[in-house]
Amino acid sequence: MFIDLWKRRTKLVEENLIEELRRTKFLDENLSRAMEYSLMAGGKRLRPILLMAAADASGGNGEKYLQVASAFEMIHTYSLIHDDLPAMDNDDYRRGKLTNHKVFGEATAILAGDALLTLAFEVVLRQKDVPHEILFAVLEEISKAAGAAGMVGGQVIDLRSEGVQIDLATLKLMHMGKTGALFRAAIRCGALLAQAPEEKLAALTSYAENFGLAFQITDDILDVEGDEKILGKATGSDEKNNKSTYVSLTSLAEAKNLAKKAVDDALTALENFDSEADFLRGMVRFLIGRKK
Ligand code: IPE
Ligand code: IPE
Ligand code: MG
Ligand code: MG
Ligand code: MG
Repeated sequence: MFIDLWKRRTKLVEENLIEELRRTKFLDENLSRAMEYSLMAGGKRLRPILLMAAADASGGNGEKYLQVASAFEMIHTYSLIHDDLPAMDNDDYRRGKLTNHKVFGEATAILAGDALLTLAFEVVLRQKDVPHEILFAVLEEISKAAGAAGMVGGQVIDLRSEGVQIDLATLKLMHMGKTGALFRAAIRCGALLAQAPEEKLAALTSYAENFGLAFQITDDILDVEGDEKILGKATGSDEKNNKSTYVSLTSLAEAKNLAKKAVDDALTALENFDSEADFLRGMVRFLIGRKK
């Protein structure tokens, strides 16, 4: 049931992403190819799936919010295209394929990222059956999470922490920004769209923050001991770039403990939910054993 629902919703998201690309009137065919190349390369689609699951947990039907869910995948994909650029992590593989700039060149990769970010906001505006004031709240969540106070801010901390000793508090801030912010916003948007009451929104926010932290710690672990073929990206990237990670600042064993603790804290945050939050429970448990 867990896997079936995940698969069905992944398919819904992917069909919608393609549809949104098809309806765009591109001025340039090569830009269109570059955007589709990364967007349709088969990511796990975690952020859209989490948004839907948070709406379910709030008593709604997550599948109604496909437009907002798809927007998160576009912003996430843009962040990956830019993250892989020579000026950032300088990586050659992503989602099992050559990185965007390796195929299309740096300038087009930068612009494909820019275009995916802006398309995301257009796609949110096509969300049907949601009162305007809720859509405004959703847009505020997304813009704050994607920008200087969220993902971009975290990426900047990541880059200026290369080769220098930072403390654990700064590392956590960096993880909460570069990775946590989009997860947090996706989950909060699911709750806002389904009009969750204040206390449920707060509990889901706490779940989301711990999910994001556990996710990035496991990403750091997989960069050390993952299998490149399964991961679809090179391992050893963090060491190559002298990154500050949970593994480099603590140890592999301690990073695993901290990931487990974040998963437990996420589950605790869902204490007052019934079976409507089972999918969210399953998703955070999946993090501990994930291979990709
Ligand atoms: C990878 O994210 C980048 C990080 C935020 C750590 P995902 O692991 O969700 O990447 P895809 O979407 O499945 O490729
Ligand atoms: C990337 O973190 C986070 C964002 C793209 C915002 P990483 O640099 O660790 O992600 P991977 O390991 O390249 O996927
Ligand atoms: Mg990076
Ligand atoms: Mg990277
Ligand atoms: Mg990484």
